Amino acid sequence: MIVNLNGQEVSVVIGPGTMHHIVSEADRYSHVVLMISKTVDDLYSDKIPKLTSLRGELTRIVLTDGENLKNIRNYQKIIGVLIERGVERDSLIIYIGGGTVGDLAGYVASTYKRGTDFLAVPTTLLSQVDSSIGGKNGINFSGVKNVIGTFYNPGTIIIDTDFLKGDDTLKIRDGICEMIKYGIIKDETILRVLAKYDDIKSLASGDDLIKLISKSVKIKSEISNRDFFDKTGERSVLNFGHTIGHSIESATKNRISHGPAVATGMLVETYIGERMGITKPEIREEIRNQMNRFSIKQISLREVGIDNMMEYLKNDKKMSQGSISMSIPEDFGTHQNVKLTPENLRSHLRSFMETFDTVTGTR
Ligand SMILES: NC(=O)c1ccc[n+]([C@@H]2O[C@H](COP(=O)([O-])OP(=O)(O)OC[C@H]3O[C@@H](n4cnc5c(N)ncnc54)[C@H](O)[C@@H]3O)[C@@H](O)[C@H]2O)c1
Repeated sequence: MIVNLNGQEVSVVIGPGTMHHIVSEADRYSHVVLMISKTVDDLYSDKIPKLTSLRGELTRIVLTDGENLKNIRNYQKIIGVLIERGVERDSLIIYIGGGTVGDLAGYVASTYKRGTDFLAVPTTLLSQVDSSIGGKNGINFSGVKNVIGTFYNPGTIIIDTDFLKGDDTLKIRDGICEMIKYGIIKDETILRVLAKYDDIKSLASGDDLIKLISKSVKIKSEISNRDFFDKTGERSVLNFGHTIGHSIESATKNRISHGPAVATGMLVETYIGERMGITKPEIREEIRNQMNRFSIKQISLREVGIDNMMEYLKNDKKMSQGSISMSIPEDFGTHQNVKLTPENLRSHLRSFMETFDTVTGTR
């Protein structure tokens, strides 16, 4: 599939066994830099092409992934390696890994000598349906997530569904939360397809996964392309569930991971919409059913602490002139941008907590 992003045609290859494409892509360059997740390197060493018989040079950088990877020291170290190895501007940087490796690699690719060619091989479902698409990359600084970064597309994105096989459902769960989001904001058929499955494992081994990934890639790229540099507010619909979700992640120092935080965020944000007379109650019911289906836990706001969440919400990038803006669904496929003062938001959070806060989750 070809997706259009900021006037650039990005080719997206989706399916099992597609990672072998990196060999022919890489063979066109005189120097290739491979940035690979250590976890993925260890788990799939027999499957990932070795790239040892390329006509050009290969620089291999193995990265310990996770949120701590995305920092300026690691960025500096990698730039140091590229200079030492004499990597030229016409080289190709490839990453193989989840969203954290992708965000760091994208920032390196976009800034090293003002930009090299870039190829993405995302290996978690979240990175396949979300973070590898749309051009954003970045690193964290001074405790602020993604505060340094650029907009820069890979020329090719290879989504190999073989990475999703196996017993580990964590590499899939957070991506399902994003798919539920795409189903609510844009394409209800995604929700109907998800409803054919009882749990993450059956979805991961079922026939619909490629179709769901393709639909998600299409939605993320179309919305991102309308507002590539995130200036007009059109991209904000992609933030559904994320304003509250990010505050849960930040307030717990990432002890609670992205998927359950965003899923809980979608419940809270639709509840706010219901209280404001904007959102149909069926939306929250749908999110709740999907969360049950895939065993995605609702996070206890009492445990996270509403005061803690408010600290982060007040500093959210969507806060301006004393109000925070949120894109809240009206119905399936339609939404409204609303502005809430911190006092309003606090009272909605308290009401949600008092009404629904019965379940606890820690991951
Ligand atoms: N740039 C964007 O537009 C964008 C969008 C959404 C999220 N993000 C970023 O993405 C990051 C989260 O991405 P993520 O969830 O992929 O996190 P991640 O990169 O930390 O990967 C999650 C875990 O899965 C492991 N892993 C990766 N692939 C695996 C595989 N195939 N099998 C088994 N384990 C595997 C990793 O080692 C890691 O421990 C965050 O930093 C977030 O800010 C960026």
